[in-house]
Amino acid sequence: MKAAVIYASVTGNTEELAEMIKKYLEMRDIDVVSYPSALFPLSQLQDFQIVAVGTYTWGNGEIPREMRDLYTAFEEYGSKKLTTGVFGTGDSLFPRYCGAVNEFRDMLYVCTNLAVTLKVELTPQKKDDQRCKRFVDSLVKKQRESERNERF
Ligand SMILES: Cc1cc2nc3c(=O)[nH]c(=O)nc-3n(C[C@H](O)[C@H](O)[C@H](O)COP(=O)(O)O)c2cc1C
Repeated sequence: MKAAVIYASVTGNTEELAEMIKKYLEMRDIDVVSYPSALFPLSQLQDFQIVAVGTYTWGNGEIPREMRDLYTAFEEYGSKKLTTGVFGTGDSLFPRYCGAVNEFRDMLYVCTNLAVTLKVELTPQKKDDQRCKRFVDSLVKKQRESERNERF
């Protein structure tokens, strides 16, 4: 099973979360690569069984510019064979808390086999470690279900 963690982060919060999620994917013996979104080769999206998308939120609840091409690539090349999860950090003082996570969630639900979402307030804390583990457990479970359904 091949997985990619693709994220955008300016001040490091979402990157930290991406690293925690990568660690738990590796603990499940999954072949995992991690990319800042600007470096991810979009043509390779279909090479993965699992993609975890990580985004901070900008402006008034908006997707950051460096995540927009990835968003469009999912719309164009996404499939129900691709299991996805979306995670992100935000600041609940803003009216649209983690708005970019919501935007990705709604699109990934339509274009892919969406398993799970995770929102974290600013810098990940110790309690978020277990939330990352559960995020990965949900991704793997959903991917296994989808493989089983394909066989029948
Ligand atoms: C100009 C600006 C606008 C922001 N707008 C939002 C927002 O609408 N909703 C939200 O939840 N967080 C918002 N944030 C907070 C960031 O998403 C948050 O600090 C996040 O953890 C940054 O992630 P990073 O450390 O990975 O770059 C905003 C931050 C800045 C500086």
